[in-house]
Amino acid sequence: MNISGTAFRTIWPLASGAVRVIDQSRLPFEFETRDLTSLEEAAQAIRTMIVRGAPLIGATAAYGLALALQRDASDARIAEAVRVLRATRPTAVNLAWALERVRRILGPLPVAQRAAAAFAEAGRICEEDVEQCRAIGRHGAKLIRERSEHLNRRVNVLTHCNAGWLACVDWGTALAPIYAAHDAGIDVHVWVDETRPRNQGAALTAFELGAHGVPHTVIVDNLGGHLMQHGEVDLVIVGSDRTTAGGDVCNKVGTYLKALAAHDNGVPFYAALPVSTLDWSLAEGRDIEIEARDPDEVTHITGLGAAGRPERVRVVPETSPALNLAFDVTPRRLVTGLITERGVCAASRAGLLQLYPERAA
Ligand code: MRU
Repeated sequence: MNISGTAFRTIWPLASGAVRVIDQSRLPFEFETRDLTSLEEAAQAIRTMIVRGAPLIGATAAYGLALALQRDASDARIAEAVRVLRATRPTAVNLAWALERVRRILGPLPVAQRAAAAFAEAGRICEEDVEQCRAIGRHGAKLIRERSEHLNRRVNVLTHCNAGWLACVDWGTALAPIYAAHDAGIDVHVWVDETRPRNQGAALTAFELGAHGVPHTVIVDNLGGHLMQHGEVDLVIVGSDRTTAGGDVCNKVGTYLKALAAHDNGVPFYAALPVSTLDWSLAEGRDIEIEARDPDEVTHITGLGAAGRPERVRVVPETSPALNLAFDVTPRRLVTGLITERGVCAASRAGLLQLYPERAA
């Protein structure tokens, strides 16, 4: 994606052996990069959400494992690095998936070759993610085109959180169809849920869409239902942090309420995700571990202060406790379809197996 005319990905390796990422905790007000040089820095970047979004967490974890092996690539070091990285964020399955993928290729290799092999595999994970997101864009854009032709007017898409290029290596999942539709000349406008508590919608999705020239409007999380009742939403497209083999969609907290409202108002509700977000080991969404984050993220809010610098202020009384569960699960019955790199399918085991028949065994 282009930022002020320069093509960026969210993560890339440097000749020095470090890995550079965009610091998403400073967006939209400051565009800065950070260099990750060690396991600890990679783990910290994921934990503190300098990088975030399921596919990007996976890519960063893969590079984090590679960084960990630069001085010691023993079996014990691999096990330790995987343990540290896995513990950073529990819900997005891409993280565990990427670590397993890198770990699997390292096992048979001589110790001296492992770090280079891990870097190479992390690079392949990134390249594949870009192609998968591009394909999700192609398949999802067809849905937007169909709505546009049916309605013969601008299509209003509602999205929650940030499932754009910042959440992936490039393109995004939920936003990829929107970029593809916009680039193909389809008149599309996006309702951007602000997405409390961390405001990934207001900060990141709005930043991305603005940089790409896509018409959009930021709304409070609670407005979506009202807009749907008044015919102002034609389609909902969200991302996913983990989708079960049965089609239940885990995504940023608040997604479930949007799905309920969409169902009540006959608005199609799609989740867009690459294969790395599918958890074939789980049938039911209720078995997904939901990340509990620091209550500070609820009691405080960050914005641009009067001095033109980001400032953090408290919005909850000092004495009130807060609960910060970061994700929820939308049951498959509320999901119109899943947009994957292989096409669109029903949110069910049968639907997924049509696209991924190799998983039937
Ligand atoms: O807590 P975050 O910002 O990592 O959560 C991100 C989301 O919930 C996204 O919607 C999801 O990862 C899909 S990303 C392509």
